Amino acid sequence: MTTPLPPTAMNIVAGAASTSLKTVLITGVSRGLGKALALELASRGHTVIGCSRSPEKLSALQTELASASDGRSNADKHIFMNVDVRSNRSVEELARAVVEKKAIPDIIVNNAGTINGNNKLWEVPEDEFDTVIDTNIKGTANVLRNFIPVMIENKHGIIVNMSSGWGRSAAAQVAPYCASKWAVEGLTRSVAKELPPGIAVVALNPGVINTDMLQSCFGTSASLYPTPESWAPRAATLILHLTVADNGAPLTV
Ligand SMILES: NC(=O)c1ccc[n+]([C@@H]2O[C@H](COP(=O)([O-])OP(=O)(O)OC[C@H]3O[C@@H](n4cnc5c(N)ncnc54)[C@H](OP(=O)(O)O)[C@@H]3O)[C@@H](O)[C@H]2O)c1
Repeated sequence: MTTPLPPTAMNIVAGAASTSLKTVLITGVSRGLGKALALELASRGHTVIGCSRSPEKLSALQTELASASDGRSNADKHIFMNVDVRSNRSVEELARAVVEKKAIPDIIVNNAGTINGNNKLWEVPEDEFDTVIDTNIKGTANVLRNFIPVMIENKHGIIVNMSSGWGRSAAAQVAPYCASKWAVEGLTRSVAKELPPGIAVVALNPGVINTDMLQSCFGTSASLYPTPESWAPRAATLILHLTVADNGAPLTV
């Protein structure tokens, strides 16, 4: 089920790039890295299309962006929708809404993700394994399936698939998550070979950042790592400077 939220006014120009302002679609903006990245990009003047499964948190983010805009209006700039990336139909509705609003993304960040609770593989419940695969791999594929044709039509676009250090190495207790992120790396490099000129896809390891996800696997030690707010400026700059020459690259923030 995909429920559009009313768009909000937003017009922050302070710190905006003097060159082109982008429309950036980010999945999973209700908290963690996705939320911090959305706030950072909006503060630079870019337009954010955000989604997650938590309409209350999306509304709160809209309010935060509107109050940050200090009354300067630019109605309909940001778009937030309640989307479950595990559902192709839900992502399809997002793509339809974006096309209708003529808000074709220049950049897509496939950020929505989840991790299994720490456990040996044979002790991870089947439904938890499924949720990790359905979100991290199939969710990413659902976004690619629905948005690559839109980008091809628009003749340009950069796609960032959020990977992990655990998409390039192995760790005990998180085998389902590692498997899903290795899959994201393979999916990314393969799709890169299929894209026409003008479109690129990269896999991005964001580093190790103190979010709900990190607290799930690291416990209290998660607090030793950087906050999403300190991560976001570096990530935003890297993402905004990606070009088609990066197609297929495994990158790290
Ligand atoms: N934090 C790190 O150190 C780290 C390291 C390596 C990679 N990563 C990757 O970075 C990305 C963000 O991680 P994070 O640490 O910010 O995680 P997080 O704090 O747990 O946030 C995950 C985000 O994904 C959304 N989400 C989860 N399932 C979804 C679904 N089915 N449909 C739509 N949205 C969904 C959540 O929103 P709702 O629950 O509201 O739907 C939330 O906004 C993930 O892909 C993760 O694997 C993080």
